[in-house]
Amino acid sequence: MTKLETYITENEGRFLEDLKGWLRIPSISTLPEHVTDIRRAAEYAVEQLKHIGFERAELIQTMRNPLVYGEWLKAPGKPTLLIYGHYDVQPVDPVELWNTPPFEPTIRGDNLYCRGACDDKGQTMLVFKALESLMTVNGTLPVNVKVLIEGEEEAGGESIEHYVSTYPERLQCDAAFVCDTGMPAKDIPALIYGLRGIIYTEVEVRGAKRDLHSGEFGGVAPNPLHSLAIIIAGLKDAEGHIHIPGLYDKVRKPTAEELKFWNEDPLHINESLLEEMGVSQFTGEAEYPPMERMWARPTFEVHGITGGFVGEGAKTVIPAVSKAKISLRLPPDVKSNEAFMLFERRVKELAPAGVEVKVTNIHGGEGVLIPPDTPPMRAAAAALKETFGKDPVLIREGGSIPIAALFHEVLNVPVVMMCFGLPDDNLHSPNEKYSLTQFYRGIRTVASFLQKLA
Ligand code: BES
Ligand code: MN
Ligand code: MN
Repeated sequence: MTKLETYITENEGRFLEDLKGWLRIPSISTLPEHVTDIRRAAEYAVEQLKHIGFERAELIQTMRNPLVYGEWLKAPGKPTLLIYGHYDVQPVDPVELWNTPPFEPTIRGDNLYCRGACDDKGQTMLVFKALESLMTVNGTLPVNVKVLIEGEEEAGGESIEHYVSTYPERLQCDAAFVCDTGMPAKDIPALIYGLRGIIYTEVEVRGAKRDLHSGEFGGVAPNPLHSLAIIIAGLKDAEGHIHIPGLYDKVRKPTAEELKFWNEDPLHINESLLEEMGVSQFTGEAEYPPMERMWARPTFEVHGITGGFVGEGAKTVIPAVSKAKISLRLPPDVKSNEAFMLFERRVKELAPAGVEVKVTNIHGGEGVLIPPDTPPMRAAAAALKETFGKDPVLIREGGSIPIAALFHEVLNVPVVMMCFGLPDDNLHSPNEKYSLTQFYRGIRTVASFLQKLA
């Protein structure tokens, strides 16, 4: 056994304890009442970096949640790697569906359950522990490292975007490493070369100046809830086609290789998707293979609708206002600000007479496609092969990490997306978990990646 392997094996228990300590801090970025938790979670990350032996480890104040920055640049002549992660997490509701409290890390079988266990504290911590292991065993790191961890990824990520665009020279590097995606299955290591962008919006429909008695005014009053239903129904049909003129214009044609993979599905990803969702068939654009729909096509999703009366019993009311949260996923080339303009215009066109419609752009971010054949990607592939015993698959994913696109564009470097999340990790959902095997394997893989990068 190498010294590194011995060190990792002997310290697995403590690595897990350090992760648990971080997980206990409910750093939910979208809820204002968690600001102090956000700060504590950021400080926890700074402590981790100091413990590794970083020359610099500090908070960077922003307009909202602090960034965590760390630097270790004592490997002259070696490449510099910029590492990204996020310490904020999603809300926990519906909390009654959790088997154990969402911020009490609990182990059942091979899994650690807690909000953030995977997304993204678990995945960020494994990178910290790879760094710690290399540093302790060798007294040095194989490459120069800059670490930038944000605290509002789940809430739009404006602060990091602003920081990266304002100070690109501070983040100068040879490659970026984003540990915030996943793999298709436990035994299928993956490198992700594409992600979708997103626009997240709120559509507010207003009718009368107050709620109305539906007998007194029904027949002449505008109904904002029904108007909203008409708008939504007009935006996407039952076959999964989105009716927003111009939205599909810039969708890039997939390569022949991609089409072959998506159509033939050699890894049986389609089957596992159905199983994971617990449904018997896919919905959406039947003329495209499911993986293309998930990874390379725009989507339109309604996340929630409010308005009127939904309590027990009955109340004959015509609501004065209704609201919907709606997002669109955008394939690389479809820019978020353009998509928002097209969306807003179409929503207003579809609005029935008699109601007022307001469309708000809550946040947006771009998708990305990374050239797969670069030295950092090859180093990552070799590291995955070493720990998983097989070559990784090169795939896209459908989620969004806007900072990946920004790193690619502003810093102009390859972005390696090599992560260890699994499809059943329940991201953003009750009972989020992370596989302990994946956590420990991740540490070994990232340590090996850094060595190969050197
Ligand atoms: N880690 C996810 C993104 C992700 C998940 C990418 C799975 C690939 C596979 C990230 O934390 C996330 O949830 N991002 C948000 C976007 C953000 C702008 C709110 C998302 O994708 O909804
Ligand atoms: Mn994430
Ligand atoms: Mn997330």
